[in-house]
Amino acid sequence: MNRSFLLVVFLAFLALPSCRHTADMDSKPPAPPSVESPSVPSRPAISDVHSYSNPSQIVVRHADLNWEVLFDRKILKGFAELLVQRQGTTTGPLILDTRNLKIIRVQTSADGSLYQLARFTVGPSDPILGAPLTIDVPQSVQRVQIEYETSPQASGLQWMDPAQTAGRKHPFMFTQSQAIHARSWIPLQDSPQVRMTYTARVRVPGDLLAVMSAENNPDHVQRGEYMFAMYKPVPSYLIALAVGDLAFLSLGPRTGVYADPTVVDSAAAEFADTEKMIDATEELYGPYRWGRYDLLILPPSFPFGGMENPALTFATPTILAGDKSLVALVAHELAHSWSGNLVTNATWRDFWLNEGFTVYLERRIQEAVYGVRRERMEAVLGKQDLDKDLADLPDADEILYIDLQGRDPDDGFTDVPYEKGALFLRHLEETFGRETFDAFLRMYFDQFAFQSITTSDFLQYLKANLLDKNPKLAATIPLEQWIYQPGLPANAPLPISEAFPEVEKQARMWLGGEIRAAALPARSWSTQEWLHFLKSLPQQVDRARLSELDGAFGLTKAGNAEVAHQWLLIAIRNGYEPAWNRLEKYLVEIGRRKLTKPLYEELMKTPQGKERAMVIYRKARPGYHPIAITTLDPIVGWKN
Ligand code: BES
Ligand code: ZN
Repeated sequence: MNRSFLLVVFLAFLALPSCRHTADMDSKPPAPPSVESPSVPSRPAISDVHSYSNPSQIVVRHADLNWEVLFDRKILKGFAELLVQRQGTTTGPLILDTRNLKIIRVQTSADGSLYQLARFTVGPSDPILGAPLTIDVPQSVQRVQIEYETSPQASGLQWMDPAQTAGRKHPFMFTQSQAIHARSWIPLQDSPQVRMTYTARVRVPGDLLAVMSAENNPDHVQRGEYMFAMYKPVPSYLIALAVGDLAFLSLGPRTGVYADPTVVDSAAAEFADTEKMIDATEELYGPYRWGRYDLLILPPSFPFGGMENPALTFATPTILAGDKSLVALVAHELAHSWSGNLVTNATWRDFWLNEGFTVYLERRIQEAVYGVRRERMEAVLGKQDLDKDLADLPDADEILYIDLQGRDPDDGFTDVPYEKGALFLRHLEETFGRETFDAFLRMYFDQFAFQSITTSDFLQYLKANLLDKNPKLAATIPLEQWIYQPGLPANAPLPISEAFPEVEKQARMWLGGEIRAAALPARSWSTQEWLHFLKSLPQQVDRARLSELDGAFGLTKAGNAEVAHQWLLIAIRNGYEPAWNRLEKYLVEIGRRKLTKPLYEELMKTPQGKERAMVIYRKARPGYHPIAITTLDPIVGWKN
């Protein structure tokens, strides 16, 4: 790390709003809130098919975490001290979720000073759920301290050699807890209905920076030791940590970006509108309640586009297009600060409450900041993705309230909870009017702030506060169909873009030979218009025509990762060889599932493609995240 970078980081941190917990942080992590007085009303625990835990008997309220980050062994080693609260007079053991953790020792304490060894067992490991850790806890116990290590294969961690980073000089590690990967690095009640506060102390090799989804106090960084505190109760899937050679640039009074020093300038330019986005969202849905909003740009192997870790969104570098054209992702992750992080799905069945609401909010933010023309284009592109899923998926997966029993919740990650969920809210908005619906949503976020709720909690609230107030209008909303049936209701809203018909017309003229590629007015097209153009081409296009298009616009070397993705799909489908090198480079470099998965699927459709997929996958796989590997191995038929 060079000096000027350190200075930038230091100055940026000075600009942090005053850290409420500074005084507490001097010697040890601040005292957690009392377990006697949870800050949120607890809803009765419900069953969650993706957790072994038993929050109806005993519930974790706070986690005090303490790790050493060991890059040479690719593990975290340390302690999780959990503050627990018994529910009523229950006496059962504490059951935690784990996956591939090495439990070294467990101690319990009634007062935080006197600790006793506790008996524990680790049950058999399930491929999806991991293994239950069952700990005997006497009635009086308030603290359970677990000493443990993670495994180098932890599903929620990625450890990267220096060569896999943009700067190539330092190693990097980051976590991804959603949906059920927190258990691979912290023994916890890994169900989104359980909310806890947390504090953490993280030791890292001297020249690296640690960041978490929490407040941190930069004044207390000493010899590679970092302290963090999250005093709002959050579900386990929102706990996040990253360690690497990171630079920071401020974007505004409460926003900034962390990235590799070689990337941070372009990231800051790309995200220059972030503060405006927060203002726009507050205007619509009430105050932003998480203090700062920073972004962290991860290495390109990050398996998602973005992850809404509170106060610190994790993002793929594939959105750095150079022209802000892919920042809908920032709007999306920011929107989760209301829908998802503030009001949270209680189980993964209710995932659409997180993502459908968030896509709806994302579009509203886009409209407020970039105008209705851009928002409409994005809504139409989203609808196209949904239509494709509705054509391909089994009926059971087209239901918002999806049954995930026996399945990996990562399987529920289709466009259905996102785009069908958002269309449902759009239907409510169009039916009751924007003003009424905006007021309703704002009240909803207040009502359920810092709580985890189920689909039926939402429906009950919807009925009482919107539908019953206007039964005539309510009768036009096929609620049952939206939530519990596959497909879309016949009267679902249909997003329309005023910009796209012109693009379609140009595509037709070019395909029909009326104009040459060079005569397409594409130089003035936005990313969204380009995406629509490429998506609207027929499945089969003559290779000579592709070559002509490529010659005119350099699509094989397109810098925009989304445009390149669409182009590469077309290239594979039509055997367009000049794109092979780029295809390989793209798949080796980028680990984002949404961009890689469809390309491998397309390759696997022909014998030659299969061969190419294998050659590429062999090279690319060592750089992919465990979550991406779990998705891609079966697609390419990889056998270990
Ligand atoms: N929370 C999701 C990412 C996620 C979902 C991770 C489920 C693990 C399990 C995040 O907010 C998200 O939806 N990201 C999208 C981008 C967005 C613009 C649709 C992605 O990563 O593609
Ligand atoms: Zn999301």
